[in-house]
Amino acid sequence: MYATDISNDLEHVLIPADKLAARVEELAAQIDADHAGQDLLLVGVLNGAMMVMSDLSRAMKSLVTVDWMAISSYGAGTQSSGVVRILKDLSTDIHDRDVLIVEDIIDTGLTLSYLVQNLTSRGPRSLEIAAMFRKPEAVDAPVDVKYVGFDLPNEFVVGYGLDYNGLYRNLRDVATLATHVYR
Ligand code: XMP
Ligand code: MG
Repeated sequence: MYATDISNDLEHVLIPADKLAARVEELAAQIDADHAGQDLLLVGVLNGAMMVMSDLSRAMKSLVTVDWMAISSYGAGTQSSGVVRILKDLSTDIHDRDVLIVEDIIDTGLTLSYLVQNLTSRGPRSLEIAAMFRKPEAVDAPVDVKYVGFDLPNEFVVGYGLDYNGLYRNLRDVATLATHVYR
């Protein structure tokens, strides 16, 4: 075992890789069916959506275009600040396009409501949201998420694109962190 082995820092695995993969297949089939005949643009939110975007887009059978936005909403900690900054904007003009935002996780919904407001102002033909994970607080969120992979307990999780201070994104599973990591 290496000193830097990810597993040293984990408490327990909440969703193993095979369950993530199976759910992504289901979502992809549903999105394909709902958007038949459309020229769909997938907008991934960096960096968290890196895994769900690459898996979801490959699981889809439709022709799609992929673009990315990078935003920052959390800073370095585990609390949503509500302050969203665009670090990298889309390369695509979404006017009159059918757009699906692909997000890793919705917690308070602050990040997504900002994004929806921002992208709506650009005049897309349609704008929907897919989020791989949803936290309990999202029940009160000001946004409507059409596609949800998994509902999670109210714990901070990492893996499958989700990070803590930039680390653990490359974990295949979704897991909680051991308490020693937060110290
Ligand atoms: P809000 O509260 O704006 O949060 O809906 C969405 C963003 O917060 C991050 N987030 C997490 N990141 N583990 C993470 O690694 C978590 O448990 C978690 N909860 C929220 C994430 O960046 C998401 O885009
Ligand atoms: Mg994110």
